[in-house]
Amino acid sequence: MRDAAPQTIYLKDYTPTPYDVAHVALDFTLHPTATRVQSRIAFTRVRAEDLVLNGEDLILKSLRVDGAEVSHEVSETHLTIPAAHLSGAFTLEVEVEISPQTNTALEGLYMSGGMYCTQCEAEGFRKITYMYDRPDVMAPYEVTINADTPVQLSNGNPTAPGCWTDPHPKPTYLFALVAGDLVATTDHFTTMEGREVTLNVYVRPGDEGKTDYAMDALKRSMKWDEDVYGRPYDLDVFNIVAVDDFNMGAMENKGLNIFNSKYVLASPETATDTDYAMIEGIVAHEYFHNWTGNRITCRDWFQLCLKEGLTVYRDQQFSADMRSAPVQRIKDVLQLRARQFREDAGPLAHPVRPEAFVEINNFYTATVYEKGAEVIGMLRTLVGPAAYDAALTLYFDRHDGQACTIEDWIQVFEDSTGRDLSQFKRWYAQAGTPHLTVTDDFKNGEYTLHLKQKTKPSAGQPDKAPQVIPIAMGLIGADGTEVLPTQVVEMSEAELTLRFELDAKPIPSLLRGFSAPVILETEQSEADRLVLLAHDTDPFNRWEASTLLAKSNLMANLTAGSAPATAWLDALTKVITDDTLDPAFRALVLALPSEDNLANACDAAGIVPDPTAIHTARKAVHLAIAQHMGEALPALIAATETPGPYSPAANDAAKRSLRAQLLRLQTRLDGGTMARTAYDAATNMTDQLAAFGCLLSAGDTKVAAAFEAQWRTDRLVMDKWFAMSVAEADPDDTVAVATALTQHADFDWKNPNRFRSVIAGMTAMNPAGFHHPSGAGYRFLADWLLKLDALNPQTTARMSTAFETWRRYDVDRQALIQEQLARIAAHPGLSRDTAEMVGRMRDA
Ligand code: PHE
Ligand code: ZN
Repeated sequence: MRDAAPQTIYLKDYTPTPYDVAHVALDFTLHPTATRVQSRIAFTRVRAEDLVLNGEDLILKSLRVDGAEVSHEVSETHLTIPAAHLSGAFTLEVEVEISPQTNTALEGLYMSGGMYCTQCEAEGFRKITYMYDRPDVMAPYEVTINADTPVQLSNGNPTAPGCWTDPHPKPTYLFALVAGDLVATTDHFTTMEGREVTLNVYVRPGDEGKTDYAMDALKRSMKWDEDVYGRPYDLDVFNIVAVDDFNMGAMENKGLNIFNSKYVLASPETATDTDYAMIEGIVAHEYFHNWTGNRITCRDWFQLCLKEGLTVYRDQQFSADMRSAPVQRIKDVLQLRARQFREDAGPLAHPVRPEAFVEINNFYTATVYEKGAEVIGMLRTLVGPAAYDAALTLYFDRHDGQACTIEDWIQVFEDSTGRDLSQFKRWYAQAGTPHLTVTDDFKNGEYTLHLKQKTKPSAGQPDKAPQVIPIAMGLIGADGTEVLPTQVVEMSEAELTLRFELDAKPIPSLLRGFSAPVILETEQSEADRLVLLAHDTDPFNRWEASTLLAKSNLMANLTAGSAPATAWLDALTKVITDDTLDPAFRALVLALPSEDNLANACDAAGIVPDPTAIHTARKAVHLAIAQHMGEALPALIAATETPGPYSPAANDAAKRSLRAQLLRLQTRLDGGTMARTAYDAATNMTDQLAAFGCLLSAGDTKVAAAFEAQWRTDRLVMDKWFAMSVAEADPDDTVAVATALTQHADFDWKNPNRFRSVIAGMTAMNPAGFHHPSGAGYRFLADWLLKLDALNPQTTARMSTAFETWRRYDVDRQALIQEQLARIAAHPGLSRDTAEMVGRMRDA
């Protein structure tokens, strides 16, 4: 335990430091258990207060101020030098010893697969040396690395072997160091300003054949940020390093991005189309942080969405440009609903800009990231694309080199557009997803739409005020023709009435492109949805109509055992066989809402969800679709073939995604015959994994061993094998299967990717197994959380959110979950991270 009594940090308490930092010089002598870090930090006194620096798990060896020893105090978390010893400008020289080998939290300097690497966001630098470990203290860095490793990297430009200079002032969280036996793939990029940049992707020997796509994605990202945002790169080198042990996806350290190897390494045989798309999006995300995050950073961690919301928004725009914009939007909204709406509806709900935290690592959430990105999208919709571009230019001009707040961001939009955005700011302050309820009426040639907005109370926020909601909408005639093309209506009061002069009652197509992160509640009939599915000019709402139809048919099966409506099955078949539609769009139409989504739908409808029944209903409806499409399936599957060499680009990936859905349906009918053929014929991981899932779901007993034998030595493919084995297990066997897998020789639970494969393979991919009425799933999760917490609090705390939906379930399940949460909370030495999360989940 790091603190005896964990403290809550408040936004309102922000105060600048009493000392400025002008320069940081670091000298590392690397050793697995006794690394020496010498720092020379140039300070200037601003206020006559003690110098209090952060520092944890450090052994202080020496300390001098301007060459002289001075009295000081060291606690578990801080170094304090009395103000009396300090005045004007002075240099603090400190030497500490740290032990990267035993650092299992993967924060600070640690080792992964024999290599040294760092992770400093949010507060990892304090485990490297004493410093103001906060984002508003920015300084240029000079770093020397003494090590016998072939490669030594840090931020900025190299000046000599093992020596790096970063001229751009940066906060501690962007510091990085890597040293080890690494091989580089090298390429070049010339910026719009004519700067020649060397690009390297560093990986462990043996992985060098899997870096091409990440490099390609990097070059496209650099070009895109110049073309679309006018932002060039600003150093002579840009390095990416892949590490196997990493808590998150990747990290935007200045000039030295460090990635979870899962988001760098790809070959057609080992990575799926989804992996390729993730690599493209994450490489772009980290690169885009160079301007939105690094050059303009956050004043304090409450402003995290300033960099994350904007950077997610930018990477979504990039992916939309690289691939299909409508498909990208649908996928982004699926994610948003699955993760952020879920978070916003439960005990962990918090505003996009939180006002208090105990452990900042717990606030790298779907709300900060994804809802944060939606807020940017709404702002752009409200002011228009040209005004958005102008505001961004002003943002970069005005704030380059600064640590900023959401107020600064909004001010830029107010100044450049002349608009008052004070009400819009509520999107940053109010937790919870607004419900938008719509009723309509047609009388005497007048069509009225009546809209009401309401947000439910959440922890600490009993009353919510109306928010500014941009509603992109159109109207469709009963025959499918569009009678009103898309227009954006701004709703800012609790209620709004819209009137249209028309000949006949239209079908409203509201929230086109999902123009705001709200829950739309309408009285739309199934017949109207069928018209929208067939005719809406907005692809997002066409897809939305299909999900709503799927959901109502699934709910009818679940609650009344009803067979799916023929009209829906016909409409579905029509879309699937329509060759004019993007196969990726068709695949999304065919994908049924997830089990978790249905559990949420039950909850919203006042029905206590039964995960077992949901699982069964979903299977039954899936079978009905398969039977309805019946004979058409083999020909459809044949039409989705992608001959020739594998290409990860959108066109072929789209076909493969439709193929995977169709093969799932076919497996319901033939018990896996065609999937077996597909499995044997597969020449890429996308096709192989799709067929593998089908075979597992059909109860094939041999395929798991064959897959394992083929891929035993590839750790990223084996992560998929672990995850799929749990995900596809029968709910009654899930915990047994997962338990057996945790006893597998290759189950390295200290590796976050492997841990997540098995644990989230159950909690996220097999909800009926996780929520098994025996409570075995809950116990299994709690056991593993307690085990990992002692080593890696950050990943443990994140994984504990599997429990966040407990309130939805029946009293028996609630009691079983509460029992596990209580057991975790009572565990001696529980980390601050996990204690905060479990506490928030229990309190609510
Ligand atoms: N800042 C990283 C990103 O969004 C995420 C991250 C946070 C990584 C904390 C590691 C630790 O790109
Ligand atoms: Zn980010």
